[in-house]
Formats: sequence, structure tokens, C-alpha cells
Amino acid sequence: MSQAKVKELIELRVKARQGGGQKRIDAQHNKGKLTARERIELLLDEGSFEEFDMFVTHRCNDFGIEKESYLGDGVITGYGSIDGRLVYVFSQDFTVFGGSLSETFAKKICKVMDQAMKVGAPVIGLNDSGGARIQEGVQSLAGYADIFQRNIMASGVIPQISAIFGPCAGGAVYSPALTDFIMMSKENSYMFVTGPKVVKTVTNEVITDAELGGAMVHASKSGVTHFVADTEEEGLMLIRKLLSYLPQNNLEDPPLAACIDPIDRLEDSLNAIVPDNPNKPYDVKDVIHAIVDESEFMEVHRHYAPNLVVGFARFNGTSVGIVANQPKYLAGVLDINASRKGARFVRFCDCFNIPIVTLVDVPGFLPGTAQEYGGIIIHGAKFLFAYGEATVPKVTVTLRKSYGGAHDVMSCKQLRGDINYAWPTAEIAVMGATGATSVLYGRQIKELESNPEEQARFIAEKEQEYINKFANPYAAARFGFIDDVIEPRNTRFRIIRALQALATKKDTNPPKKHNNIPL
Ligand code: HXC
Repeated sequence: MSQAKVKELIELRVKARQGGGQKRIDAQHNKGKLTARERIELLLDEGSFEEFDMFVTHRCNDFGIEKESYLGDGVITGYGSIDGRLVYVFSQDFTVFGGSLSETFAKKICKVMDQAMKVGAPVIGLNDSGGARIQEGVQSLAGYADIFQRNIMASGVIPQISAIFGPCAGGAVYSPALTDFIMMSKENSYMFVTGPKVVKTVTNEVITDAELGGAMVHASKSGVTHFVADTEEEGLMLIRKLLSYLPQNNLEDPPLAACIDPIDRLEDSLNAIVPDNPNKPYDVKDVIHAIVDESEFMEVHRHYAPNLVVGFARFNGTSVGIVANQPKYLAGVLDINASRKGARFVRFCDCFNIPIVTLVDVPGFLPGTAQEYGGIIIHGAKFLFAYGEATVPKVTVTLRKSYGGAHDVMSCKQLRGDINYAWPTAEIAVMGATGATSVLYGRQIKELESNPEEQARFIAEKEQEYINKFANPYAAARFGFIDDVIEPRNTRFRIIRALQALATKKDTNPPKKHNNIPL
């Protein structure tokens, strides 16, 4: 082979690696952003990246774009590894036509997605794009739809993770939205279906990009993003960590990590964590940190519906999804947002063979017109449905309250909860003592209105009677709805034993095209 041929190849590679050129690379850096290639370098194991389609160029001949062409056409695609495990990746290059999506750009993404599906490996998309390549028109729209269709087919088969490191607007938001997890960097990233200019025209609202679709907005208000990172580097590390909890595909189990945390570690603090006063809060994250391997908990949706905590952890090296009511916020009540958040997380775990550990302390559903008009019935049903359809091992520990419909939702025995434990502080009942007394003895209480002292004594006596009967785990345990009442400090060991026993669990749902979860 002549040296000239090799030289040509090397020169072409150098050219491709320059993307839209040094000036635009500098502009990207000046905004505090990394380039598409720098992101891939940080994301993947060193030297593991194998690139596809470096020499692809666009095929458009309109608006003078035929005179401007860049090798790779604005997206870098290929495969590599994270902690030695195969992943496919695409990274949109803002230095080439603003990272806008052309027909060929879309084809490159589809190629890695198709191959990832064939081999059963996750796909990670790094987004930084001005949307549809305006010069290409409908071909660009078709390209998006080709990607959407692949996102849909890959859903529940391979993990799909999206990072947003720049603009992501218009219909372009829907590919990340179809994936399992979205991560946004705090600066420079935004997502919206219609931008501030259109908003101003239609609703007369004046709003900035960040106010409309910045990372914190989507983390706390819409729930669109699952993670927020202070920097792009942190975001990329976060994706690496997230993958460590996940299997490569739906036919595999999550990887087993080495565990140096003793499985029978007693945590005495847990025996005193639940306050004597049932209306006093505590932080359920303290419980989570106390029981999981090395106190490590990767929280998902941290800023959204904090009355429910969800995330990944390990017990004796086994990945689990944790779902826990949070008494520190709104007393851990279930509302629309918490129900949506919980349902989505439980379904993700079930797709990818990740056992679910549920920690219950729930006073019920949030009352009020805002909730009813917003469809709490449907959203609550969604969460309930997700638990009931899940066939992965399900271990539940009731820490304190488990009232009413919310008791049923939170992985109760009848929703195929496999092993359900309760702490001695558990209160499992239709409702709390105050509510129950007012309903059961409403007439008598009214009759005593003329004698407030006697009325108060009567109410206190009836409430105590109710507490004695129901505000404990034994009423439920008598029926076998609770498998055992456990000492709180022993919780880690009991959960690990339960997960070991359930490791070979097989459960199925009836054959069907797909279910009709209340969306
Ligand atoms: C072609 C584009 C482009 C696009 C940006 N560029 N967006 N080229 N198609 N969609 C080019 C610019 O011409 C410029 O080229 C370079 O990218 C950088 O853009 P700037 O505007 O200089 O950058 P910045 O100031 O950072 O602003 C970024 C931006 C803005 C906010 C993304 O460029 C913008 O508003 N672009 C248009 C966004 C848009 O309307 N897209 C279509 C949405 S509809 P030079 O040569 O100067 O470097 C859509 C539908 C999808 O996406 C439907 C899916 C179903």
C-alpha cells in the first residue's frame, strides 16, 4: 500500500475530528461547553471508542448548503465500553450546523441503535442540537421519526440514556423523552417543545430559555429530567455510575458488585429512628443509607415529588430499586407527581430484572380539588398497576403508617408482594385514628357538642381504642398480610436474606399484546 493512501486516510481523520472547525470549537468552549468528542472521551473507558461513519456527509443541495459540508455531518457515533461493558453512543456536534439533524445524521444514529439492539447493549445519546436541519425540511422530520421508532422498539429491551448538554427543542425533545433516563447539565442545557419566542407570541409570557426549560425546571417542576449535574463532566460520570446498576439488556441480570459491607451488620440507630409521636417526621433516606451496601444510594428524580424517594442501591452486591415514602415531605403522602414518579421507576426496574425494595410510611393519598381535578385516580392507579404487573422480586418493609388505598399501592401482599415485613412501629389500617373516630362515632360526637370536655374525653377514648386495635402491625400479621414483624436494626440482614431467597423467582403475566396501564 502506498504511503500516500495512508496519508490521505490520516488527513481525512484529522479533518473529521475538527468538526465545524477551530473557531466553532473555541466558541463551544467559551460557552463553558465540551465538544462532542471530548464528551465521548470522558464518558467511555480510555481508548475504547470505535467510531462509525466518520466520512458521512449530507446530501442536501438547497439553500447553498451544498457548498458547505463536514465529515461526519454533525454527529459522532460508535461503540466503546464503560467499566469494561459494551455501550453504543452518539454525540451531537454543535460545531457542525449547530448539531442540527439531517437525513444522514439520523441514519448514523439509527445505525448504532440497530446494532445495539442486535447485540443487546445500552445506547447513550449526548444531545446538543439546534433541532431539525432547516435546509433539509421534511427529510429531517423523517429522520427524527426513524429515531423515535427505534427508541420505542428498544424500550424495555436495552437501557437508553440521554444527556442534554445544550439546546434540545421542538420535536427533538421526544427522542430523549422516549428513553429511560434523562440527565441535564445545570448550565447551557434546555428542553422545550416551543421556545420563548413562540411562547411570547401565543401567550404573551416573557420568559428565558432557562426559566422555560432549564435543568432545574425539568428536575423539580415537570419531572422530565431524572438527574441534574453541575457540570458536563459530573453528568458523564453520573451516567457511568447509573449503568453500573443496570443489566446490558432485558434478558440479563444486573451485574453483581463486590460487597465488603457485612450482610449481618446491625444498625442500632434504626430501633429509635421512628419518633414516638406518629405525626413527627424523620428522614427515610437515613433508613436507606443505614441498610444498603456502603451507604451508597443513587437517587433518581431527587428534586421531583420529594414525598416519594426512588433510586438504586445494592444489597450484598445485588442491584435493587428502592421506593420509599418520605415522611419529611408532605408526611410522605401519595399525590399525582409521586404516583407518576413511582410508577415509572417500578416499571423500569421490572423491565430490567432489578428487584424492588419498598419502604412504607404513607398516611394515604393527598386530598383536594387540585389532586382530584388533576386525575389522582388515574395516576394513583398507574402506580398500583406498576406494582401489580411487576414480576421481579418484591420485598416490602412497613416502617410506620400504611393507610387506606395507599397501603394497597405500596407493594402489598395482594399485589404480589413476595416478602412483606413490618417494624413494630407499623400502623396498618384503613385510616388514621382521628379520621376513623370521626366517621364511626360522628353522631355521638355531635350529641356531646354541648359538653366539650366530655366530648374530648369521648374522642380520646375512642381514638385510643382504635389505636390499640389497628395502630400496630399485628392485625395485618394475623392474616398473613405481613410475613414477619422484624427488629428495625436487623432490617439489612432480613432484606438480604429475602433477596437471596427470591433470586430464582419466576412469575409471569398472561400472554397479551400489551397491557393498558392507565396513562
Ligand atoms: C441548520 C442551524 C440550525 C438548524 C443552528 N444552526 N440551528 N443550521 N439548522 N436548525 C447553525 C447556525 O446557522 C450557526 O451556523 C450554527 O448552527 C450555530 O448557531 P447559532 O445560532 O450561532 O448558535 P447560538 O447563538 O448558540 O443559538 C443556538 C440555537 C439557534 C438557539 C439553537 O441556532 C437556533 O435557534 N436555531 C434554530 C432552532 C430551530 O428553530 N430549529 C428547528 C426547530 S423545529 P454558523 O455557520 O454561523 O456556525 C425542529 C423540529 C423537529 O427541530 C421535529 C421532530 C419531530
